[in-house]
Amino acid sequence: MPQISRRQTLWGLGLGTAGALILPEAGHGKGRYALRAGAVATADEPSAEIGVQILEAGGNAVDAAVAIGFALAVSYPEAGNIGGGGFMTLVMKGKPYFLDYRETAPAKSTADMYLNAQGDVRAGSTVIGNLAAGTPGTVAGLFAAHRRFGKLSWARVVTPAIRLARDGFTPPAQMIKIYREAYGELGRDTNLGNYFGAMAEGKTFTQPELAKTLEAIARRGPAGFYQGQVARQLVAQMSRGSEKGLISLFDLERYRPVWRPALTSSWQGYGVVSAPPPSSGGIALLQLLGMKEARADLFKGVSHNSADYIHLLAELEKRVFADRAVYLGDPDFVEVPVARLLAADYIKARAKDVQAEFPSPTAQIQPGLEKPQTTHFSVVDSDGNAVSNTYTLNGWYGSGVVVEGAGFLLNNEMDDFSAKPGVANQYGVVGGDANAIQPFKRPLSSMTPTILTQNGVPAMVLGSPGGSRIITTVFQVLLNALDYKMSLKMAVDAPRYHHQLLPENTIFTEPYAPASDDLRRELERRGYSIEAQNYNGEIAAIQVLDGAPIVAPDPRARGAGRVTQGAFGH
Ligand code: GLY
Repeated sequence: MPQISRRQTLWGLGLGTAGALILPEAGHGKGRYALRAGAVATADEPSAEIGVQILEAGGNAVDAAVAIGFALAVSYPEAGNIGGGGFMTLVMKGKPYFLDYRETAPAKSTADMYLNAQGDVRAGSTVIGNLAAGTPGTVAGLFAAHRRFGKLSWARVVTPAIRLARDGFTPPAQMIKIYREAYGELGRDTNLGNYFGAMAEGKTFTQPELAKTLEAIARRGPAGFYQGQVARQLVAQMSRGSEKGLISLFDLERYRPVWRPALTSSWQGYGVVSAPPPSSGGIALLQLLGMKEARADLFKGVSHNSADYIHLLAELEKRVFADRAVYLGDPDFVEVPVARLLAADYIKARAKDVQAEFPSPTAQIQPGLEKPQTTHFSVVDSDGNAVSNTYTLNGWYGSGVVVEGAGFLLNNEMDDFSAKPGVANQYGVVGGDANAIQPFKRPLSSMTPTILTQNGVPAMVLGSPGGSRIITTVFQVLLNALDYKMSLKMAVDAPRYHHQLLPENTIFTEPYAPASDDLRRELERRGYSIEAQNYNGEIAAIQVLDGAPIVAPDPRARGAGRVTQGAFGH
């Protein structure tokens, strides 16, 4: 029986507004943004424990985030990664930052690389095997964040993951279930089973090759991944199996993460800091929050999660996904009209024709001017620094390809490009030319790592996996917590609904909270189809109330949170 520490009992309570965690003896961190404690919210127990240990050892939010990122690559191999990429939104000493370490298309990529002789997308080619993988960004990204803001040594923040890979952990039942599902899809065409087939409940699972790769990264930084033996192993993997891949030593050598201006705005007295392109997430979230505010008249008296409410959210979402399909892509390759898409007048005009009862015809929602499996973690330290990080292999276990000798999985992020304009990707979202494949381009994303602040102090740090569902998941949890003033636990636990323009007038429900018969009937009367999707999102959120961080792990998966035992992490 594991020992229950004070930290564990604190997060287990899932305290809300009324029971905000106060640590009067602990004192404050330092400076004008100080909090009463640090906290982490992650996708699993091992990474949460490692994150909070780093904070308690004097590391800051970035040190903890980097340690969690590497730990999840070991304990949460279905989405945690070093062979994928992601986005990190940060608030450091009150200032917003954004780090894009999204994968890039290899140099030899072409716009029609997934099409057959008939011009159709070859089944499975964008998601299974070597060709589905983009050049990974995670190691370079975590290194860049650490180099700019970290306090502890690089080796100190990578070492806990090395131990986890070398000494092993016991896979929980949920992890084994996900592995079996992924194996059913990917196993026949990849070497996935050779690496993860031995996982069994109650049995220690070790990853010695991955431990060696992490040791090289700890010793040499990004050069331990993008150059030398690991790089050669990755490139050698490209020519194994039936589908040859494109990643070359040149691609690896050339990969660079990008610091971009964070998307910032304000909403209901909070500063909002979120992800700019090549994510669609931040723009979509701000459009949704703005449209909801613009049509407050329609929401008056409407009960939360009623048929009226779900319909109104779908109306807003329809408009946002129409814009996403046309305007959004990698800003280094296409001009994304960010200012115009976020202009108050534009948002008001988009919201103007929202229908109060019945869905607007899908064909009329033209743009006014894109696997739900990713993972998110949030960290605050007691100096008031915050990190909101979403990173991904794209689908569970990515492309299914493990780099032999190096022990890590490769992403299938190329599926986030539009392989053929108008053809839906694995999330069912369509894209156009702005998101067409080009060498070195980053595929459009929905990842929405977000931080809300009050006078520069973090008020909420959140994000979720879910592909296109990420946007509507973050939107709904923000509304629940801050608009509807629910406790963080209630806000996270509440059922979530999703609409994304296509399929037409379809509302997706989660296995966690299927629609009741009454709700289904009422939405069907309005012309919606209710589709029970086989996927739950998973919010990893920290809320700060009266200077005290609160965590409330999402009941949908194996998320975990910890609050430090004092004002550590500064
Ligand atoms: N691969 C999921 C996303 O980037 O949105």
